[in-house]
Amino acid sequence: MLADTAALARQAREAGQGLGAFNVILLEQAEAFVAAAESTGHPVVLQLSENAVKYHRGSLAPLGRALVALAEGSAAPVAVHLDHAEDTALCYQAIELGFTSIMYDGSKLPDDENRRTTAEIVRAAHAAGLSVEAELGEVGGKDGVHAPGARTDPADAAQFVADTGVDLLAVAVGTSHAMSTRDAVLDLDLIERLAAAVPVPLVLHGSSGVSDLGMQAAIRAGMVKINVSTHLNGVFTRAARVELDANPKLTDPRKYLGPGSTAMQKEAARLLNLYAI
Ligand code: G3H
Ligand code: ZN
Repeated sequence: MLADTAALARQAREAGQGLGAFNVILLEQAEAFVAAAESTGHPVVLQLSENAVKYHRGSLAPLGRALVALAEGSAAPVAVHLDHAEDTALCYQAIELGFTSIMYDGSKLPDDENRRTTAEIVRAAHAAGLSVEAELGEVGGKDGVHAPGARTDPADAAQFVADTGVDLLAVAVGTSHAMSTRDAVLDLDLIERLAAAVPVPLVLHGSSGVSDLGMQAAIRAGMVKINVSTHLNGVFTRAARVELDANPKLTDPRKYLGPGSTAMQKEAARLLNLYAI
């Protein structure tokens, strides 16, 4: 069933667990994540980023509608989230399409304009029953630059939530986007201080760079929504590549996307169980 992202995150926080939020580029990946949620009995957040929308020739609706349909037809609670959106028009479109949450990133705007625009998005989203995530203290790596040194200040974070009314807050605590090794060092003490200072569930971006044990420690320290993309894409692509290398004459995409999807489902299920400490 389609479920509200912030409500799932609050439930996870109360249970001391993490909520898996996995990025989707292809429909097969979304199907794999929903199957993983159903097989484990844990909820999942399907995330479609503004970058993925650009890949789909700028159209949010085709894959966005498919994600909502998958969530509605699922036996497990599934949320549908617009990820890393800088374009406010895309946010309003996600509201129309029945998404359950939006991450609005106004960090490139001057600070007061960012707060004002974020608060406007929050008002529109709340009126339609969606929740909103924002980010404070930029998580490095979005432009391929490793910047694991970025940190979010707990008092600033609490003030930002008060000023904007966001339901979830992404914080910088040592991760960096698109890491291909799982050796990021998290600032667990800062996560604890942020969790104590910030009234809404915390979100970890760039989670591909975190080891299994590191992630469980982060969840115990108070991290809730765990965003993973690169790691699961790697699992998908490696499995597809094995098929392509073994069968150079393959033409039917189902023959290589299928194994990719199966491998991704297995790893997503493993992660969902790992987060449910
Ligand atoms: O918003 C999505 C995530 O932050 C994914 O980051 O590709 O490093 O796992 P990642
Ligand atoms: Zn991210």
